[in-house]
Amino acid sequence: MPEDIQNVQKRFEELIKQVTTLTELDSLKVEYLGKKGIVTGLLKKIPTLPASERKSFGTAVNSLKSLCGRLIQEKRESILKSQETTDVDISLPGRKGYLGSRNPIITIIEEITHIFYSMGFEVIEGPDIETEYYNFDALNTPDYHPSRDIQDTFYLAMPGYLLRTQTSPVQIRTMETHPLPIRMISPGRCYRRDAIDPTHYICFHQVEGLYIDRNVTMAMLKGVLSVFARRLLGKQTQIRFRPHFFPFTEPSVEYDITCTICGGKGCRVCKNTGWLEISGAGMVHPKVLEISGIDPKKFRGYAFGMGVERLAMIKYQIDDIRHFYNNDIRFLSQFRGR
Ligand code: PHE
Repeated sequence: MPEDIQNVQKRFEELIKQVTTLTELDSLKVEYLGKKGIVTGLLKKIPTLPASERKSFGTAVNSLKSLCGRLIQEKRESILKSQETTDVDISLPGRKGYLGSRNPIITIIEEITHIFYSMGFEVIEGPDIETEYYNFDALNTPDYHPSRDIQDTFYLAMPGYLLRTQTSPVQIRTMETHPLPIRMISPGRCYRRDAIDPTHYICFHQVEGLYIDRNVTMAMLKGVLSVFARRLLGKQTQIRFRPHFFPFTEPSVEYDITCTICGGKGCRVCKNTGWLEISGAGMVHPKVLEISGIDPKKFRGYAFGMGVERLAMIKYQIDDIRHFYNNDIRFLSQFRGR
């Protein structure tokens, strides 16, 4: 490479290193590649040279020209990039990470499960899509029973299938597959064609309970539910049984707990009765044991259900079941950290 071209290149490389702003870069560009620029001057020299030098000189000047162009472009990019980072105002407060919260239904199911687990109940889950057999027939619920009406139950397009209306079918599934004695609870979602209002929704949660052994009594049922209620809602909590009917238990009861909002004195929530209804329970009907392959002469059992939304509404003093399903952050964020 001719010496003068080499010198021009060296000088240019030194100068561009010192450039820190776009204005400096522009004037350097003009100085070298502008109409009257140094490199342009060299290019203009080419035709004046003797033919023997022209070719090598020309190649050298042209590659110098493209080198200058490339270095200028690189410099421009690095200046722009450094401006981007210096544009950040480091005195601004940082952005907060958003921490979600769990739906209180999930939290209370975990609490309920923990209480029963500590009393020796295992946890078993059943399917949300059930058959008419498990949801009704095996639970001794005849064809003509009103709960089987299409106005109350979501039937699926596939004949014989439905969305379970209760967790009780898990009783049957467990009796069919598990060795005795059985002591289990089964939390899960249930579905009913209810009109939506502050205490009804098209889906809700229940926790089923089942204990089958040789000498199970109703007193044991009441004992276990009393301990449960005290542990979930506080020592002063009491329960009571009221006679009721379920096709799959005999005798059957509905059970209530003392209203934790007024402490049993009577208020709006408990409609001045001092009691809140939780769900049903009873001694497993001998027919149900038989259907599930258990000898009712040797074994007996109790079963209970509980409405999870009800318990959560009482425990957290929530006045409308729809809050659980609206996905409203203002509601959910109140349960952060629980
Ligand atoms: N499955 C019943 C209901 O949903 C409640 C229940 C469960 C009653 C277990 C008795 C025994 O209403």
